[in-house]
Amino acid sequence: MRGLILNALRREGHISGEELGRRLNVSRTAVWKYINELRKKGYEIDSSSKLGYFFIKGPDLLLPEEIAIGLNTRVLGREIVYREETDSTQDVAKDLVERGAKEGTVVIAEGQTRGRGRRGRSWSSPHRAGVYLSIILRPSLKPFEVLQIPLIAGVAVCRAIESVTPLKPRIKWPNDIILGGKKVGGILTEMSAEIDRVDHIALGIGVNVNTQRSLIPWEIREAATSLAEECGEYVSRVRFIQHLLAELESLYGEFVMSGFGAIKEKWNAFDDTIGSWLKVSGVGNEVEGEAIDIDWDGALILKQKDGGIEKIVSGDITLSGYGKGR
Ligand code: BTN
Repeated sequence: MRGLILNALRREGHISGEELGRRLNVSRTAVWKYINELRKKGYEIDSSSKLGYFFIKGPDLLLPEEIAIGLNTRVLGREIVYREETDSTQDVAKDLVERGAKEGTVVIAEGQTRGRGRRGRSWSSPHRAGVYLSIILRPSLKPFEVLQIPLIAGVAVCRAIESVTPLKPRIKWPNDIILGGKKVGGILTEMSAEIDRVDHIALGIGVNVNTQRSLIPWEIREAATSLAEECGEYVSRVRFIQHLLAELESLYGEFVMSGFGAIKEKWNAFDDTIGSWLKVSGVGNEVEGEAIDIDWDGALILKQKDGGIEKIVSGDITLSGYGKGR
């Protein structure tokens, strides 16, 4: 109901409580209650006995009703669970799965106290500065068929950045989102599966949107950035999420129907890895070579000095030498 009221207020300019109530089939008193709830959340809504209510401005919050206005998806984000603050949206997503949450449910937090990154690292999540969300996916696929999902999400993040800013993001394999050589976003995929069947995936996406440099932990300040730092202006997190979910829904649909083949080209368009000389550290090993391609399953193919070919399924690029984009 709050969403419907917001919608009407934004569209109409002045509108009386009586008219709002009539349109939404609730009493004037109920309208008044909802308006007060919105005010408590930080919405500025003027009211005068002659002209009725008037929307002035909203808070910069990722409230589900804000995201729903103008969200162009069928499944992703149709159910949004919102937290002002949480440990990690990944954990909230897992709890929701246990309680039967549907595919496409999205958990969004304004801040995380224990945000996690890949390979056991933490993810700095200052309050109301970035986008921290987890998407529940339940594809009818086998575990080995879903390794490409983080790559697909990387493409969706890049496209969303391009939709809301003039910036040109790149992807460092597997799914670091890069601007001007610095990391601006990352993707963490956690999966629960049996040998031949995926139960669910919690697809965690973190992007530094309006994060000021001073809020980036000093240890990573030289290596990390935010959209606002790069384009020099405030970026709407709500619009970013709306674009992200729409892009992801379309790419994910294409992937489930036709496999990674069609998406690979789209990944290549943002790729900042192929053609570079890399050192990749995986679990307990380190391989050096030229990145020559990504395989059908999203693995990185490296050509070593002696001509040997190594396929890397997961790892971190620790050194990048000559090659494209450097
Ligand atoms: C990376 O290491 O690059 C991945 C970072 C993923 C961070 C996101 S923020 C939302 C979700 N919840 C978490 O705790 N982590 C992911």
